[in-house]
Amino acid sequence: MVHVRPAVQAVPAYKPGRNPADLAREIGVEKAIKLASNEVAFPPLPAVLEAVARVMAETNRYPDNGALLVTEALAEHYGVDPAQVVAGCGGVSLCQQLAQSFNDPGTSMAFAWRSFEMYPLQAQVVGARSIQVPLVPGRPGGSPDTHDLEALAAAIDDTTRLVWVCNPNNPTGTAVRRAELVRFLDAVPEDTLVVLDEAYREFVTDPDVPDGLELMRGRPNVAVLRTFSKAYAMAGLRVGYVIAEDPAVAQALRKTHVPFSVSVPAQAAAVAALGSGEEVRRRCAAVVAERDRLTAALRDRGLEVSDSQANFVWLPLGEQTAAVAAALEARAVITRPFAGEGIRVTVGSPEEDDIFLATLDDVRSLVAPA
Ligand SMILES: Cc1ncc(COP(=O)(O)O)c(C=O)c1O
Repeated sequence: MVHVRPAVQAVPAYKPGRNPADLAREIGVEKAIKLASNEVAFPPLPAVLEAVARVMAETNRYPDNGALLVTEALAEHYGVDPAQVVAGCGGVSLCQQLAQSFNDPGTSMAFAWRSFEMYPLQAQVVGARSIQVPLVPGRPGGSPDTHDLEALAAAIDDTTRLVWVCNPNNPTGTAVRRAELVRFLDAVPEDTLVVLDEAYREFVTDPDVPDGLELMRGRPNVAVLRTFSKAYAMAGLRVGYVIAEDPAVAQALRKTHVPFSVSVPAQAAAVAALGSGEEVRRRCAAVVAERDRLTAALRDRGLEVSDSQANFVWLPLGEQTAAVAAALEARAVITRPFAGEGIRVTVGSPEEDDIFLATLDDVRSLVAPA
């Protein structure tokens, strides 16, 4: 028997989400809907389709390993130096690079929990300790759904190399506000890197939720992670990026980059997507309107739903979570359950959300009689 590293053996096996076409076939319906992965319900941007088609004839060549055009386009878009920007094969790849570049075995990574599942996985793989700081209720009497930044700051010790603040938080959708985030950043030791994970930034509507890039200015231990997967409708193309105040942080990430992992079509698509700002803003406004409608409809049903600043909503169903999600899936609606805690539901199209709401009504009377 070969020797798999114990840290890797301990990583839970990857469990893929249900594919809607397979599920529909299995349960004998025409169509299943997937509200599980926080994609937008819109098709790829027209400029992205055009750009990808244009470069396909160049895919006999390796991509530019430094993703120069994407890096420059992002630098111009955000008014930063290209040396501060690193593109990666999706935000998840950058999560891995951050762990590899900043966490030696025996060091620690701190983050709220529950938050994005990649954080503890990446810590485990590099042999770092996860410091998980429980979420707290954002509203009196509510379920735990919000970062406790004071506790997060207090949990940092001299082994902590990396701290994540997922804002808005996946999977609960809540966001931390400017004053508390500034207080937090002021409290973090200067030699500990704070990454503001803003994968859902484009869906934020609360003016008091700060733009991480503004808070980053003048703080060399702060970086911001964003992605083209969500608002830019490019989840299948895989491009994310980190912008760091200190170019040395970006340089460290380039060193753990898997060579050529941002493909030729992905690079062309990212540049084209950045030029489609108007259309992206229109689409995000539609997602936000639908998010608010979905939230109101769920509250009308007596469910506790926090204000989401992302493109998903969180149903804290506790012990009913697994049963409700399974029953929804049996009726062709795929959501993302976290057993014992809640279900994350991606904002879909109005038609998809109506199907979800009607199916939830059926299911709740079955598994959670009022
Ligand atoms: C909080 C958060 N960060 C980062 C990512 C990375 O996304 P991607 O790898 O698609 O860029 C995701 C994706 O779900 C996310 O939810």
